Amino acid sequence: MSKKILITGGAGFIGSHVVRLFVTKYPEYTIINLDALTYAGNLENLKDVEGAPNYLFEKINLLDAEALKNVFDKHDITDVIHLAAESHVDRSIVSPLDFVYTNVIGTVNLLHAAKTKWAADYSKHLFYHISTDEVYGALGETGFFTETTPYHPNSPYSASKASSDHFVRAYAETYHLQTVVSNCSNNYGPYHFPEKLIPLFINNIINKKPLPVYGDGLYTRDWLFVKDHAVAIDVIFHNGKAAETYNIGGFNEWRNIDLVKLLCKLMDEKLGREKGESEQLITYVKDRPGHDRRYAIDATKLNRELGWKPSVTFEEGLSETIDWYLANTEWLQHVTSGQYQHYYNKMYTNR
Ligand code: NAD
Ligand code: DAU
Repeated sequence: MSKKILITGGAGFIGSHVVRLFVTKYPEYTIINLDALTYAGNLENLKDVEGAPNYLFEKINLLDAEALKNVFDKHDITDVIHLAAESHVDRSIVSPLDFVYTNVIGTVNLLHAAKTKWAADYSKHLFYHISTDEVYGALGETGFFTETTPYHPNSPYSASKASSDHFVRAYAETYHLQTVVSNCSNNYGPYHFPEKLIPLFINNIINKKPLPVYGDGLYTRDWLFVKDHAVAIDVIFHNGKAAETYNIGGFNEWRNIDLVKLLCKLMDEKLGREKGESEQLITYVKDRPGHDRRYAIDATKLNRELGWKPSVTFEEGLSETIDWYLANTEWLQHVTSGQYQHYYNKMYTNR
């Protein structure tokens, strides 16, 4: 059966890489990108594939249950890869309810539309939910998150993602929907919205603006190149076992301050600046409330069972990322000025 895959959040950072991979690698599939185009959704991320014959875009909000039902019928959706979410921890601290609406209620709406559409035979369809390592809470100096680590979310963002994971599980147990969940560590790479650490700091270094390091800067994250995450999603979508969870990580832990210093060094070299110049922009600022000290993923299950591992080192991925931002200053300018939000009107409203 030729698949008709609904990818939600395809105009966002990770979603755009997943859409690109599936549209180009699987011409026999139809990829329907469903996205509300919030501040984080940018169709300019997909300029290179928007004309592909197996790609379609639907501007729909997950909160619109009727529109979700219609999209399943209109395109005869066979499978879902669900990435759409409010994704920024700092925003969740300011506006927790936005995260409840999209991440919890939006996910339940989507589960419900899938359940309704696929009721004749759940075994032929897959609902793949993309989650985060943040649902496991914070680690101390040692240890790793595995697939059996108890959930212990600390921010409104991670609490909303944990809740959505539980609803996915409930739909599998109660209604026998075929589901799979993956929980990934911090991604970085091209098309990353410059509110998150790495793209924000690249943009600020380019513009010689302060680099606001939260607290003591000793918080630790496990970084994964976004294209490696997209490949992991491909592998899990095709070969993962139903009702299972897979952890995805980079085997690549960095304390924030060390990462920021590496970024400064690489950017000074690439921009032809004096050695040490960008480090002078580092400014310690007030800590994030409830800041998780350390995340580290044990991704051995995914490696052992499905053969996935990251393909690039951090230095290679970071270097490619910086080069991409330096070569795509127009994208950065459109994103920081808000101009990208006109792209949908220009490209889609007269079609
Ligand atoms: P992002 O913020 O860049 O993109 C989210 C996308 O979802 C945007 O295109 C936005 O327009 C869309 N969206 C938001 N609310 C919507 C709604 N109500 N209806 C329809 N569309 C809506 O996010 P990202 O960083 O690409 O993350 C994608 C997914 O991966 C999320 O589920 C996130 O929790 C998860 N994740 C992210 C990371 C990371 O490091 N960025 C790591 C692990 C897991
Ligand atoms: O772990 C996966 C998660 O990674 C995803 O689920 C989230 O969607 C994604 O946003 C990311 O969450 P983080 O909170 O880890 O990412 P962020 O880029 O916001 O912050 C990374 C670290 O850098 C964190 O310790 C906070 C710190 N930081 C962040 C910003 C934006 C700063 O010190 N200064 C900053 O200005």
